[in-house]
Amino acid sequence: MKKETLFIAFTTQKGGVGKSAMTTITASILHYRMGYNVAVFDCDYPQWSIVKMRDRDTKTVIESERFKLLAYEQFTSINKKAYPVISCKPDEVIQKAEVFLKETPIDFDFVFFDLPGTINSAGVINSISRMHYIFSPIIADRLVLESTLAFMNVLNGVLVKGGDTGIKGIHLFWNMVDGREKSELYAHYDHIIKELDLSLMKTYLPDSKRFRKEMSAQMENRQISRSTLFPIDRRLSKFARIEEFITEFLQIVQH
Ligand SMILES: Nc1ncnc2c1ncn2[C@@H]1O[C@H](COP(=O)(O)OP(=O)(O)O)[C@@H](O)[C@H]1O
Ligand SMILES: [Mg+2]
Repeated sequence: MKKETLFIAFTTQKGGVGKSAMTTITASILHYRMGYNVAVFDCDYPQWSIVKMRDRDTKTVIESERFKLLAYEQFTSINKKAYPVISCKPDEVIQKAEVFLKETPIDFDFVFFDLPGTINSAGVINSISRMHYIFSPIIADRLVLESTLAFMNVLNGVLVKGGDTGIKGIHLFWNMVDGREKSELYAHYDHIIKELDLSLMKTYLPDSKRFRKEMSAQMENRQISRSTLFPIDRRLSKFARIEEFITEFLQIVQH
């Protein structure tokens, strides 16, 4: 039987915590390496950072002989196109995604939504409530944590436990964990997260200097980091615990 297309969002109210980075890294591994069919809706208007990244990635491939060859090899071996990155406004995204899925001949396994951090319209809340899974990066910053936990707690109480939505789970994960940092803050917040009855992923993602830069900014580098056209380099993804993250992600969504 055909599996249901899952709607997934990496979302929090805070910017700069890794929403877009984790969206592209996850989408690229699933689509280019693991055989899933993925689509990405970029509704973080007006930045549209993933749409712009796709433009830069495409330009990089056109301008570099090495990436052109890599792209040729990859796309002939997987025998499918790059995943679509579709720009939209937050209010129209669900409708747009439904029309898109109805009209496409492809069976999509996952649709990722990069939603805006600000909840300034009913449309954004409505879009969030239509996700099947929400993954929320958190970083060791008191202000970010307090507001994220408060928001996720409300979301969990109203939308998930209230039962009126299709949300199957909200999962927090630590991102940009600095190995040198004292672990007390993490332990403290792990406890609060538990008390709030929110789910926390086992995988901690370290602060990986090497994926600060995306593919188009490091054409001379042998390792591909963040890209919408290629999966992250295997060694890098191991080092950055992305492999672990993807395994846990797939266990959660059971796809
Ligand atoms: N685990 C990580 N280690 C190092 N840099 C990271 C990590 N996660 C995200 N970043 C970087 O942090 C910056 C902000 O991430 P981004 O995904 O654009 O945030 P958001 O979409 O939440 O605003 C980007 O340069 C990104 O590459
Ligand atoms: Mg972003």
